[in-house]
Amino acid sequence: MADARQIKVGIVGLGLVARSHLKGYLAHPQAEVVAVCDLDEQNAHAFARQHHIPQVYTSYEQMLANADIDVVDIGTPTFLHAPMALQAARAGKHIHCEKPFCRSVGEGLEVCAEVEQRGVKLLVGETYVFLASHLKARELIEAGQIGKPLQLRQRHGAWLERPGALLHGGPAQRNWRVDPAKSGGGAYPWIFDHAVHFFATAEYLIPGSHIAQIYSVPARQAQAPGQRGAAHDPYTAAEVDIPLITWTYEDPACQGVWMRAERLNGKYDYLRGFSTSVVGEKGLIEVLGEGGGNLFWEGKQQHLILHRDGQPTRCFRFEEGGDEVWDSEISYYSQGHVNQVRHLLDSILQDTQPRYNGRDGIHAVRCTLAAIRSAQEGRPMRVDDIGAAYTAYA
Ligand SMILES: NC(=O)c1ccc[n+]([C@@H]2O[C@H](COP(=O)([O-])OP(=O)(O)OC[C@H]3O[C@@H](n4cnc5c(N)ncnc54)[C@H](O)[C@@H]3O)[C@@H](O)[C@H]2O)c1
Repeated sequence: MADARQIKVGIVGLGLVARSHLKGYLAHPQAEVVAVCDLDEQNAHAFARQHHIPQVYTSYEQMLANADIDVVDIGTPTFLHAPMALQAARAGKHIHCEKPFCRSVGEGLEVCAEVEQRGVKLLVGETYVFLASHLKARELIEAGQIGKPLQLRQRHGAWLERPGALLHGGPAQRNWRVDPAKSGGGAYPWIFDHAVHFFATAEYLIPGSHIAQIYSVPARQAQAPGQRGAAHDPYTAAEVDIPLITWTYEDPACQGVWMRAERLNGKYDYLRGFSTSVVGEKGLIEVLGEGGGNLFWEGKQQHLILHRDGQPTRCFRFEEGGDEVWDSEISYYSQGHVNQVRHLLDSILQDTQPRYNGRDGIHAVRCTLAAIRSAQEGRPMRVDDIGAAYTAYA
């Protein structure tokens, strides 16, 4: 019988990403956000007023102790993810935790042990595996449309902000993103924050695969100062940039590459945002991801193109209203996050395991740490060689 109860949610960290999460709860008939928490009291009250949320906290511990909630939604800066998730699990709450899930493998494993012991659900916010265009690519691959997928090529062009995008806080309030320890990334804060997405996608689009070894190519020269990315981010010229990351999978037939060329690292690519080509034995998929744009076939903008050897090319578009942060037709901050939140709520209601959990989140962090260590040491790194205590900042 269907579980008809209402799921009560408390959100901690009311910045950029929290607004997308809220959308997901508002869109679900059995969810209700009853409490919010942020260190910035004014922001917390404004957020609650705007969305008719009755309880406001400035202390996470007090929200956990006093609010009648089933789910804790964690959208705080990265260094707080694992500690807050651990507290939530101890309090018996289900958890939606943003990526990167942890800053070391050990920190993540401690949370997973608690989650598994308490029997609560944990979904790590890996939005790339909940994005309509990526879901379709995976469906086509599983249906055998390109034969065995063998090579994955990811391109990272500029993320261009939508004019007038409504965002809380500017770069000054988001300086944790460039702090070596708070971001978790040491000298590579941008990479640590984003590469989890790239590795998760690299395994999602080669179903059943695991990345075994990673080799990064760091930039040898600092970029000219003054380059800027999105106005809401504190990143300027990526002084210590990694423009190329390559990897091999456990299956020796498969390999992958991620290439970054955008104004933030002093380069130009016509293809915008994140995009992936999946090369198979008998076909190739080109698909846009977060902030993607400028993928054309026969003069028309497409979101996914399926090329097959000896068969007509097929094109797909996903009409989901575009994005509210990036100037892109791909609905990432909107529908991608709504899909992700819905998946967690349905996992709770149906008592099933979320399909992207803490152990998946740890694996993506482990790959990211291997990429950073490879750049630092100038040699390929096996993912399994990243120990439980290793961090990029110490
Ligand atoms: N999955 C995605 O697509 C996606 C997108 C954006 C951000 N993120 C992740 O979400 C996290 C947050 O990013 P953001 O851009 O929303 O950050 P942000 O800086 O805009 O917001 C963080 C909020 O947390 C609050 N905060 C900080 N410490 C707190 C504490 N101890 N208790 C309560 N509130 C506290 C801050 O006041 C701020 O309002 C990051 O880890 C980021 O990587 C994920």
